[in-house]
Amino acid sequence: MSDKKRIAIIGCGGMGAGHAIAIASGTGIAMWFPKGMSEALVKNDDQHSTNISNRLELAGVYDIDPARNEWAAAQGFSVYDSFNAVLNDNSVDIVLIATPNHLHKDMAIASMRAGKHVLCEKPVTVTSAELEEVIVVAKETGKVFYPRQNRRWDEDFLIIKKIYNENLVGKTFNIESRVMGSRGIPGDWRGVKASGGGMMLDWGVHLLDRILLMVPEKVKRVYCNMTYIKNDECDDGFKLQLVFESGLTVSVEVGTCHFINHPIWYIAGDQGTAVIEDWKGHGKLVVLKSWQDKDAKPILAGEGLTKTMAPRERDSVEEHPLPDVAYDKNTLYLNLADVIDGKAEQIVTAEQALRVLKLMEAAFKSSETGEVARFE
Ligand SMILES: NC(=O)c1ccc[n+]([C@@H]2O[C@H](COP(=O)([O-])OP(=O)(O)OC[C@H]3O[C@@H](n4cnc5c(N)ncnc54)[C@H](O)[C@@H]3O)[C@@H](O)[C@H]2O)c1
Repeated sequence: MSDKKRIAIIGCGGMGAGHAIAIASGTGIAMWFPKGMSEALVKNDDQHSTNISNRLELAGVYDIDPARNEWAAAQGFSVYDSFNAVLNDNSVDIVLIATPNHLHKDMAIASMRAGKHVLCEKPVTVTSAELEEVIVVAKETGKVFYPRQNRRWDEDFLIIKKIYNENLVGKTFNIESRVMGSRGIPGDWRGVKASGGGMMLDWGVHLLDRILLMVPEKVKRVYCNMTYIKNDECDDGFKLQLVFESGLTVSVEVGTCHFINHPIWYIAGDQGTAVIEDWKGHGKLVVLKSWQDKDAKPILAGEGLTKTMAPRERDSVEEHPLPDVAYDKNTLYLNLADVIDGKAEQIVTAEQALRVLKLMEAAFKSSETGEVARFE
């Protein structure tokens, strides 16, 4: 007997189209797929994506915009004529919600009440109160509600997680995670507050999910400053500082008005430092061989000499390439199918998504008050 799950996608814009292509092809990775982009740019990555075609099957898509349904039909995908038609299709096991953020809650609840499991794009809801409602319905109906925090399988994050978990820089005392661009908020619903716009809900949700996953500690302090450089309504970036119970500090930054970028990751420990400069994976790991650096010579630093900040002699540190990591970008899809079959625990849970939403709310509060916010 086939254990394929039939999945219907609501919202066939950038992300919904990416899912449709990935699921229909079986080997693809679900990549955001901006409207009008050439399909040729969507590549399979056999090395990092298990074929999912014996676990998931595309039942069809539905979008409120007829042009998107036409696009889907032209790809050979089945198209439903309404959201209700999806809910009434008894052959559909999973509803994948890929609409603007403010629509997720009601669509998730309606889908579960109609007997469907739900795979929901991030941020799964716009507030923690909304997600609490969704969790109640998931418990009532016994349906799986699965948050799509796919950036847990990004190579850059997995490298930093390995460095952190295996103490490759010794005891970590500071981590910086960042994404930067110069194009402001996209000119769609992402710039509209009522639609759940803003960069905290867009990128912040990924970056914070990864930090809370990686650091298994309580957060002691949250301080955040949102920016409104090119958008008065929604944050177009932020700088957030977390202090964990052990004293570990983590900075998370999203910027959309930067013409020179900082590295996407920087991790510092008492025995070394690692950096990942960009998404192409340029970076290095520098570890200490010896604190002794007898030949250290002062350098001229502006108007004065410094020995404290002088570079180390080459033989007191070792430079390594970043470590290799193994990963499968289709883990989330496969885990969803396994959870529905009762064969596995959920890797990304609604409770984890709730903690991230509460952290984002603490960050907004800190930015509004200018004070450190309470979190947990
Ligand atoms: N996980 C990721 O890496 C990732 C990447 C990009 C987007 N996303 C998420 O995916 C979701 C969609 O983002 P996007 O970039 O695809 O946006 P988009 O604007 O490109 O697509 C959204 C689509 O939803 C449709 N829609 C709106 N209201 C609808 C309704 N009532 N019924 C059916 N369809 C409706 C729109 O017509 C549009 O085609 C968002 O939640 C976003 O945060 C996730």
